[in-house]
Amino acid sequence: MSEATIESILQEKRSFQPPADFAKAAHVPSFEAYQQLCEEAKADPAAFWAKLAEQELDWFQPWDTVLDWQPPAARWFDGGKINISYNCLDRHLTTWRRNKAALIWEGEPGDSRTLTYAQLHREVCQFANVLKQLGVQKGDRVGIYMPMIPEAAIAMLACARIGAPHSVVFGGFSAEALRDRLVDADAKLVVTADGGWRKDAIVPLKDQVDKALANDAVPSVQNVLVVRRTEQKVTMEPGRDHWWHDLQQGASADCPAEPMDSEDMLFVLYTSGSTGKPKGVVHTTAGYNLYTHMTTKWIFDLQDTDVYWCTADVGWITGHSYIVYGPLSNGATTVMYEGAPRPSNPGCFWDVIEKYGVTVFYTAPTAIRAFIKQGEHLPNARNLTSLRLLGTVGEPINPEAWMWYHRVIGGGRCPIVDTWWQTETGGIMITALPGAIATKPGSATLPFPGILADIVNLEGNPVEGSQGGYLVVRHPWPGMMRTVYGDPERFRRTYWEHIAPKDGQYLYFAGDGAHRDDDGYFWVMGRVDDVINVAGHRLGTMEIESALVSHPAVAEAAVVGKPDELKGSDIVAFVTLEGTQTPSEALTKELKQHVVQEIGAIARPGEIRFTDALPKTRSGKIMRRLLRSLASGEEVSGDTSTLEDRGVLDKLREGA
Ligand code: WTA
Repeated sequence: MSEATIESILQEKRSFQPPADFAKAAHVPSFEAYQQLCEEAKADPAAFWAKLAEQELDWFQPWDTVLDWQPPAARWFDGGKINISYNCLDRHLTTWRRNKAALIWEGEPGDSRTLTYAQLHREVCQFANVLKQLGVQKGDRVGIYMPMIPEAAIAMLACARIGAPHSVVFGGFSAEALRDRLVDADAKLVVTADGGWRKDAIVPLKDQVDKALANDAVPSVQNVLVVRRTEQKVTMEPGRDHWWHDLQQGASADCPAEPMDSEDMLFVLYTSGSTGKPKGVVHTTAGYNLYTHMTTKWIFDLQDTDVYWCTADVGWITGHSYIVYGPLSNGATTVMYEGAPRPSNPGCFWDVIEKYGVTVFYTAPTAIRAFIKQGEHLPNARNLTSLRLLGTVGEPINPEAWMWYHRVIGGGRCPIVDTWWQTETGGIMITALPGAIATKPGSATLPFPGILADIVNLEGNPVEGSQGGYLVVRHPWPGMMRTVYGDPERFRRTYWEHIAPKDGQYLYFAGDGAHRDDDGYFWVMGRVDDVINVAGHRLGTMEIESALVSHPAVAEAAVVGKPDELKGSDIVAFVTLEGTQTPSEALTKELKQHVVQEIGAIARPGEIRFTDALPKTRSGKIMRRLLRSLASGEEVSGDTSTLEDRGVLDKLREGA
């Protein structure tokens, strides 16, 4: 982000107090109440989290130690026994919530289904028994590659119930990307569907699974379970593939939740980093349950009458924490929508809000910018007065999009919680609590109670005033990731030693840059590493580069982000070709398609620029800073003296 943009953002003076009637009924009803929670947590973090764990969750056995912190290894609630599926389901069955809607599902073609807590519990128990029948045992990993249908949530909860960690892979990832993740997780079984609906088209998920598993590429996978959703033709491999409904029908609904150790792995979810292949972020049982429970309760202020809708996909952390685990642990009604706003009905989100009387709505800035472009007439044609709270996640929201969201969707009356967090943090870290904290368009505001967020320089010293720095967290929190699956060294290096530990003090390095204003509010500016955020999807530039160089025509590739009005950033790839190859329209198309095949449509480069050479330092490092400026059409400024061949830069400029 340029200095001028940062200046203008920090001059944002608009501020919105929590509406009085909202605050009155909120779980955290005032700024004083928020401060008190923060002070309590700061004075004795272990006591703070222990009190909540006792009040809010059901345990099979109490813990011995609240926190065992041997940086960067954290263990929370050691000695305790708990099951998140029990906390999301069983414990609600003995209350009036038994027959409350747990999951309201709306399919893209307009079909729908509602499952009460009792019904969801039954389905989960049956499916847990199906998994067991197929030989899945506690500790085995299960891959889930699904459309946004209730069976995705059922599969996750069933895995949690028997202690088999799930690894959900976003349905938009390609067969190649799926294979890599299944191999890394050493998955024993895959749950998928014949297809899923997205933007008026069918995504052929089962075909992709077949491709991923072809030639015994993932030898650990023994069985594939297939939900019938779109009814198109699929090939079922005898002995390996089974229809979900065939096995589910006959399965017993009796399946007590397995008492899990607090630190047993709950799931692994792959996310992009600045180097190498995507890493498996590991979350464990008790801490994640507590952290998603508390953040859902206080940030979305869930009350028993709420109808809560998070528009994310369960393939991302937002879907894990804020469609499935957080809301269900709280006994809330959570809405699940298949697909995305689609050409044939661009107003479908507003239809869903009106149809179900959604009260809390959580979506991404990139979606909001698309809504703005479609025009106000679509939301204005629907009754959105049921809404009382709005949220955003995934990338910085530009103040004008925030104002539009506030005015057009929120009718000027709904607080907006801009929530900053990551796959690694498990749950929301910086956000307004809607009844307590005044909001400012574009700022995620203040840390959640118990989260000691700070902004520091590379030496680890706090940066004061509006000067920017690196966003870090100073103290472990229950929802934090525990390790990179199979690679604890990478965990240490990436997150805990990027900023050198001092006097035994370790700082969690988030990879984001941030500023703080005079009120102490955080303004998250975006990634400071080689990760780009495209339409709210997190991608590593190196992953895309590897995909490009795996094409025989490509010699070298460098990928950078450039600002994009709708997607936040778009992908620009600078490519040099092998000897006899020449640039052409056709090759551009082919390379873009190649990336789609290797990773998925979310990684399709917006632009491919052919060049004879890439700008490098004398030691051979690609100077991405220069490429970023070139890609966004900015003047290349700053030091270029380390550039090996200045001619390269001139040529690239001419090319543009
Ligand atoms: C970005 C998504 C600004 C950030 C939950 C972070 C945000 C990355 C916000 C994590 C926000 C997420 N304001 N930036 N409110 N929320 N980000 O792992 O760069 O898919 O590091 O988790 O998204 O993306 P991830």
